[in-house]
Amino acid sequence: MAQNNNTVYRASTTAPVNIAVIKYWGKRDASLNLPTNSSLSVTLSQKSLRTLTTASCSETYPTSDTLTLNGKPQDIQSSKRTLACLSNLRDLRRALENADSSLPKLSAYPLRIVSENNFPTAAGLASSAAGFAALVRAVADLYELPQSPTDLSRIARQGSGSACRSLMGGYVAWRAGTKADGSDSLAEEVAPASHWPNMRAMVLVVSAEKKDVPSTEGMQTTVATSSLFATRAELTVPARMTAIETAIHNRDFPAFAEITMRDSNGFHATCLDSWPPIFYMNDVSRAAVRLVHDINRAAAKTVAAYTFDAGPNAVIYYLDEASDVVAGTFKEILGEKTDGWEGPFADRLKNVSKGVEL
Ligand code: DP6
Repeated sequence: MAQNNNTVYRASTTAPVNIAVIKYWGKRDASLNLPTNSSLSVTLSQKSLRTLTTASCSETYPTSDTLTLNGKPQDIQSSKRTLACLSNLRDLRRALENADSSLPKLSAYPLRIVSENNFPTAAGLASSAAGFAALVRAVADLYELPQSPTDLSRIARQGSGSACRSLMGGYVAWRAGTKADGSDSLAEEVAPASHWPNMRAMVLVVSAEKKDVPSTEGMQTTVATSSLFATRAELTVPARMTAIETAIHNRDFPAFAEITMRDSNGFHATCLDSWPPIFYMNDVSRAAVRLVHDINRAAAKTVAAYTFDAGPNAVIYYLDEASDVVAGTFKEILGEKTDGWEGPFADRLKNVSKGVEL
C-alpha cells in the first residue's frame, strides 16, 4: 500500500444473521457482556439476511470516527459497546505497528464505517448480531489483523452478545466461560454448514416493528426477577448444549428439533415469569407453534422446529426433503405474498421468506 497523506485505506465485508437454537438470555457481567449460560446458533445464508459493512480510514478524515447505518449517521460516542469494539481493534493494530515500524499508523487515523442491512433493523431478526460481527470483521480486515474468528468473537461479544456467533458459518457455540476477565467467553464452530447440507430455515416476519422490550433490558429484568431463571441457566441449558451438539454431530433432526422448540419455549417462559412479565410472542406466533406441532403429528415424525427470539417472528427449521410438507403447509395456511396478502393471518404476517439453504 502506498503511503502518503491522502491515502484512504478500505475494507468491505458481509456478516450473516444467526438464529439461536439454545438461547443466550442473561448476563453475569454487563460491562464485559458476559453471559450466564452458553448458547448455540445456526448461521443463516447470506443470500437471505446479512449486513454489508465498509470500513475505511485516512489521515485526511475529520478527527472523530463515524458510523452510518442504512444511510443514517449513528452517535458512536454515546455507544459504549461500539467504542469498546473499536478500542480493542485499535489496540491490536497498534501492537502490529509497534512490532513493525514500516506499517502505516492506521491506528491513529479516524475511521469511517458504513453499514447496510438487507432486512428490517431491530425487527427481532438479530440485526445487532450481523451488525457488530460485520463491523468487527471489516475493521479487522482494514487493519490486516492476524486474529482468528474465535479471537475476534471476544471483541464482537462486547458489541452485542449474539454477534460473537455471526463471525462463523454453520453451527456455532458461544461458550459462556468462567473467567472474570471474559477471556474464555468466545464462539467456536461446532460443525460447518456443509456437515448438514439439507438443513433449511424459513423466516416468518410477523412484525417488522421495533421490539417492545430491547433484549439487554429484558434479560436484566429476567435475571433479577424470574424464579425459573436460575434452573434454566444452571441445569437446563448445560444439559441441552451437550444434547444438541450430539444431535448436530449425528444429523439427528428429531432430537435437534425437540431441543430447539423446548429451549425457545423455556426462554419465553422465563420472560413470562419476569416481573413485570415480558411478552415477545403474539397470536400469530402461537398459531405458528400450533401449526408446527400439527405438521409433526400429521407426518407421524418430527419434520419441523420453531424458534422465537426477543420478538414475534418465527424461524422454522426443516430438512429439504420435508420442504413440501413444511414450507408448503405454512404458505397455504398463513398466506403467501402476492400483491397483497392472502390467508387468515394475511393482515398480520408481513413476509414469509423462501426456505433458504444454509
Ligand atoms: C433472544 O445479543 O441482542 O436473540 O448482548 O444485550 O446485545 P446483548 O443481547 P443480544 O441478545 C440476543 C437474545 C436472543 C437469544 C440469542 O440470540 O441467543
